[in-house]
Amino acid sequence: MNNDLFSVQNKRVLVTGGSRGIGKMIAQAFVRAGANVTICSRKQDELDAALAEMSPEGIITGLRADLSTYAGVDAFSEVFAKRGETLDVLVNNAGAAWGAPLDDYPESGFDRVWAINVKGLFHLTQKMLPLLRARATIEEPTRVINIGSIDGIRVAATENYAYAASKAAVHQLTRQLAHRLIGEHINVNCIAPGLFPSKMTAFLFQDEETTSQVAETIPMKRAGRADDIGGTAIYLASRASAYLTGVVLPVDGGMTTHG
Ligand SMILES: NC(=O)c1ccc[n+]([C@@H]2O[C@H](COP(=O)([O-])OP(=O)(O)OC[C@H]3O[C@@H](n4cnc5c(N)ncnc54)[C@H](OP(=O)(O)O)[C@@H]3O)[C@@H](O)[C@H]2O)c1
Repeated sequence: MNNDLFSVQNKRVLVTGGSRGIGKMIAQAFVRAGANVTICSRKQDELDAALAEMSPEGIITGLRADLSTYAGVDAFSEVFAKRGETLDVLVNNAGAAWGAPLDDYPESGFDRVWAINVKGLFHLTQKMLPLLRARATIEEPTRVINIGSIDGIRVAATENYAYAASKAAVHQLTRQLAHRLIGEHINVNCIAPGLFPSKMTAFLFQDEETTSQVAETIPMKRAGRADDIGGTAIYLASRASAYLTGVVLPVDGGMTTHG
C-alpha cells in the first residue's frame, strides 16, 4: 500500500460553514493534514476566532459569505475566483435547522432551512464547477462532499419537518450530481452525521447530565467527535475513495442501523 493513499497534502479545499461545529471539525482535519483550506460563513467575529485557532496548525483563510441567497452565492463565487483560487474539494457543510410542532410549523422556518441546506448547496456547487472541472482527471477526480443528516434517512424524534426533508433532498442531489458529473471526473458523495455537539444541537448537550442521557440513546454510547467526521471527510477527499461516487455515508455511531 502506498503510504499516500489517504493524503490530502496541498489539496485546495473549501469548507462552507467552517467557522464552528462540524464544518470547523472538518476544516481543522484538512488543515492538520496539510491541505490549503478556505472557510466561509456569515459572522465575521466567528470566522476570525476560527482562523485564529486554526492558522497556527497550517494554511487556512476565511471569507464572509451568505450562501442562503443566489446573490450571496454569486458574490462569494466571484470573490473566490478573483483570488485566483483553484479547487480540489468542495465541502458543502453550511446548514440550518428549525424545530416546531406540526400545527405551528412556520413558512419562514421552512424557507430559511431550504434556502441554505438545499438551494445554497446546489447553486454553490454549480458555481464551483469550472474550478472543479479544471483540476479533475481520471486518475485524480475532484470531489464534492455534501453534509446531509441521518434525519434525511430515518424519522427523527424532534419535529424538524423542513430540516429532515431538506436533508433527504441533499442525499438525492448527491446521487443526481454524481450521475451527471461522473464523466467529468468529479466525485460527489455525502456524509450523513448522527449526533455531534455544535450550536445546532446545543439544546441536547446542555450539561454533563443531558450529554450522558443523549449518549445512552446512541448505540455506540457516545456522541460524534471531531476525528469521526474529519476522518471520513479526509477519506472522501483522498485517493483512497477515488472509485466512490453517489454514496451517502452515515457517520452516526450506529443510529441508523440500530434505530
Ligand atoms: N451537529 C449535528 O449533530 C449534525 C447532525 C447531522 C447533520 N448536521 C449538519 O452538519 C452541518 C453543520 O451543522 P452544525 O451542527 O455544525 O451547525 P452550526 O454549529 O450551527 O454551524 C453551522 C455553520 O454554517 C454556517 N452558516 C449557516 N448559515 C449560513 C449561510 N446562510 N451562509 C453561510 N454560512 C452559513 C454558520 O456560520 P454563520 O452562522 O456565521 O453563517 C456555521 O459556520 C449542517 O449542514 C447540519 O445540518 C449536523
